Amino acid sequence: MTKKILLLPGDGIGAEVVDSAKAVLQALSTRFPDATYEFQEAPIGVAALKAGNDPLPETTIEAVKSSDGCLLGAVDEAALPKGTSALGRFRRRLQLYANVRPLRAYAGVACLCPDLDIVVVRENSEGMYSGTEYAVGTDAACAVRIITREGSRRIAKVAFELAASRRKRLTVVHKLGAFKMTDGLFLECVREVGKSYPGVALDPRNIDAAAMDLIQHPGQFDVILATNMFGDILSDEIAGLVGGLGLAASSVLGDKYGYFEPVHGSAPDIAGKGIANPMATILSAAMLVDHLGQKKAAAAIGEAVTSVLAAGKVRTPDLKGKSSTQDVTRAVIDQLMR
Ligand code: NAI
Ligand code: MG
Repeated sequence: MTKKILLLPGDGIGAEVVDSAKAVLQALSTRFPDATYEFQEAPIGVAALKAGNDPLPETTIEAVKSSDGCLLGAVDEAALPKGTSALGRFRRRLQLYANVRPLRAYAGVACLCPDLDIVVVRENSEGMYSGTEYAVGTDAACAVRIITREGSRRIAKVAFELAASRRKRLTVVHKLGAFKMTDGLFLECVREVGKSYPGVALDPRNIDAAAMDLIQHPGQFDVILATNMFGDILSDEIAGLVGGLGLAASSVLGDKYGYFEPVHGSAPDIAGKGIANPMATILSAAMLVDHLGQKKAAAAIGEAVTSVLAAGKVRTPDLKGKSSTQDVTRAVIDQLMR
């Protein structure tokens, strides 16, 4: 049955990489007859603000709710006016609390940690990105870090489930010394949920020490559970250990709705140049296809990406190549059709 895929290109390179992933998804049905998609598009971010008066229009929320799957490019959050946001609101509004970011090295891509294979499970609806920020007079400003029992428990469950299906080791990062109440509650919930997973070893670490250990001893990590901001920062660090943001994909799921997106942002420095690496978004599309239950088709996209990277001929400048976004897209599709 044809699945309805909603594309949210967003800003900057968002449209370029989403176009690329769309082309890969369109090619998929030639090999996998059940993998047929009907595409719709909706605005989000600066593009949406310019077109109307809201970076997250109500029509976009409705379109997400009525789609079978959703792929987002990127939003130039920093360019949105003070007091507004698109992604934070989107995630809180639909309770998209679980941001799962698999990060691994690829054969043929030179990187600092060639054996690395880690999944970051980032809480995505509260914490330091709770959206509550205000000025205190003219010379001070305040951001509120919200941690709730419900929010902590549900993300801990996602992380333990994943850890149980992998190497049965879950690192949870915190800064208990500084955040005695918020990280205290978070850790209490994680330990409580962990009682149902006796086979998974829980490894609590301070965020700063973990950031260093990731570089010196990456093999100590398998699944990392983090509150919103810590998870955001650690995932870019780990992406940097395995070839950069151009290869890092993710899912952003709640109990009812969700979407898939590359870890990177709108990259204003390279937007419009046709050199953005589309692999992260193509891999996010593969995660979406997998989520739709089309396992073989999803695996085929992953294999095509792996082959193109291993061959090392067609790659964008972030991977020290000279190819364009379109060249890479074509190479992945050619490989997929083989
Ligand atoms: P960024 O992730 O957009 O870019 C960081 C660096 O990585 C830049 O040098 C960029 O050229 C490079 N890069 C990123 N993706 C790439 C790709 N696919 N191919 C090749 N190079 C790539 O982060 P930055 O510059 O800090 O943020 C730009 C905007 O994006 C900001 O407004 C930020 O708030 C927003 N942002 C949005 C996210 C999202 O939509 N999910 C996530 C992260 C940032
Ligand atoms: Mg980020």
